[in-house]
Amino acid sequence: MMGLPSIWAARALSRAVRAYCTSAPCPRRTQPPKVSIRDALVSQSPGGESVKVQGWVRSVRSQKEVLFLHINDGSSLEHLQIVADPSLDSCDLTFGSSVEVQGVLVKSPYKKQNVELKADKIEVIGHCDPKTFPFKYKERYPLEYIRQHPHLRCRTNALGSILRVRSEATDAIHSFFKTNGYLHVHTPVITSNDCEGAGELFQVEVSCTSECGDHIDVYNFQPSQFVLKPSSKVKQPGKNFFDVPAFLTVSAQLHLEVMSGAFTQVFTFGPTFRAENSQSRRHLAEFYMVEAEMSFVESLQDIMQVMETLFKATTEAVLSNCPEDVELLHKFVAPGQKDKLEQMLKNKFLIISYTEAIDILKKASQNFTFTPKWGVDLQTEHEKYLVEYCGSIPVFVTDYPFDLKPFYMRDNEDEPQHTVAAVDLLVPRIGELFGGSLREERFHLLQQRLARLGLTDTYQWYLDLRRFGSVPHGGFGMGFERYLQCILGVDNIKDVIPFPRFSHSCLL
Ligand code: 4AD
Ligand code: MG
Repeated sequence: MMGLPSIWAARALSRAVRAYCTSAPCPRRTQPPKVSIRDALVSQSPGGESVKVQGWVRSVRSQKEVLFLHINDGSSLEHLQIVADPSLDSCDLTFGSSVEVQGVLVKSPYKKQNVELKADKIEVIGHCDPKTFPFKYKERYPLEYIRQHPHLRCRTNALGSILRVRSEATDAIHSFFKTNGYLHVHTPVITSNDCEGAGELFQVEVSCTSECGDHIDVYNFQPSQFVLKPSSKVKQPGKNFFDVPAFLTVSAQLHLEVMSGAFTQVFTFGPTFRAENSQSRRHLAEFYMVEAEMSFVESLQDIMQVMETLFKATTEAVLSNCPEDVELLHKFVAPGQKDKLEQMLKNKFLIISYTEAIDILKKASQNFTFTPKWGVDLQTEHEKYLVEYCGSIPVFVTDYPFDLKPFYMRDNEDEPQHTVAAVDLLVPRIGELFGGSLREERFHLLQQRLARLGLTDTYQWYLDLRRFGSVPHGGFGMGFERYLQCILGVDNIKDVIPFPRFSHSCLL
């Protein structure tokens, strides 16, 4: 049966061809309609429609009687086979060159494909020297190798598939929130807040001229040079562009809390920046975060429910809309990942408290580099152990120590161990994928906490949200690249974002 996208693609193809055939005669028009390779491939009963396709050559096979080409334009993993008279061959027709081909779509006699294009005309648009092009025909390269060619790697099958899945998952996330009644908000990239209070901020300033006194040596970049506490939010007209220190956002949460005070359920999905001096395979300096905030929510259970449904609905949509791309990655990049993902989708995610997690870790026979202790943050090695302990099913860890978490988290007011209503979702091989919490909506408790941190003046506007029609609320953030790593089994986060930025690397 044809899936919806195939039906749309088939309709697009027939519309393009119909428009070409039925519009008023135009003596100067000689060009057949242009179709994408994806649309051409889903043509169900190709009956000799004249079309034009454009793309990059993936293989050339010239035989005595016939010339075979495979071309790809990025619209699908599958290439379109071009069959032509050998007289149309030329020395410029090489792996990687860009071409425009005109001809007729016909049913293919070969088992591997439904459709092929019988070419009347092949034009090489851009030459590609196969000797110096970093990728060779039929070679399968490890992701670490292709990462060294950030401007060309999207032309490989692996990156092509990853980036199509990324695009599909983006659509699925927007559609999940739309279907569930959330308003999409464009939260600012530049902000004067440090939502997470972890000091991992990139400061934003106008680039220095020779008149600038405190010139930053950009060639010897140290993230610490960019760190400035927002609590020092003193107005210095003329010194800063915005009069106050401004930063790239580390989380849109506080802005979403403003919006949830009017629209009840809101989300955002945008670039997020952290000056973490980490080269790890799960940290980037610029990543995308999906964040949601819900008003009138009183329990962590409700927030976990949204997290789990978002994960499962998005993944189901990706699996049904780009099965070939996912299959390629599961087959060649992460063998065994398909079964692991099925387990994650089939099972209800587990829930344990932070206190239970510490007990499990203390009883573990494994020797950890960091000794687990109540009151100390979970390390990646702990997170991975916990997920394995739970049978490689994603696990929510709830109710973290009060002193470990940012000021906005809701106090559980419990004894003897003092915790907040926080939740992290840990997933196999990655560790933390989501972080969320109930927010402290009680004015006096929030005021006390801000006073202790010396942040009362800075966060008067945030206290106002509790002064004027406060409601119990909460939300979460999901690292989008970690999500892609988790479903595709890609080991390094740098391979699931088009242009990775991390400490000491900002290529292109
Ligand atoms: O746990 P985090 O820090 O949560 C927040 O920022 C909350 N204010 C979100 C909210 O409640 N609206 O970050 C959320 C997620 C993490 O669980 C992780 O998946 C991802 O963002 N993340 C990163 N991903 C890639 N590189 C980094 N440097 C990341 N830091 C966090
Ligand atoms: Mg976190």
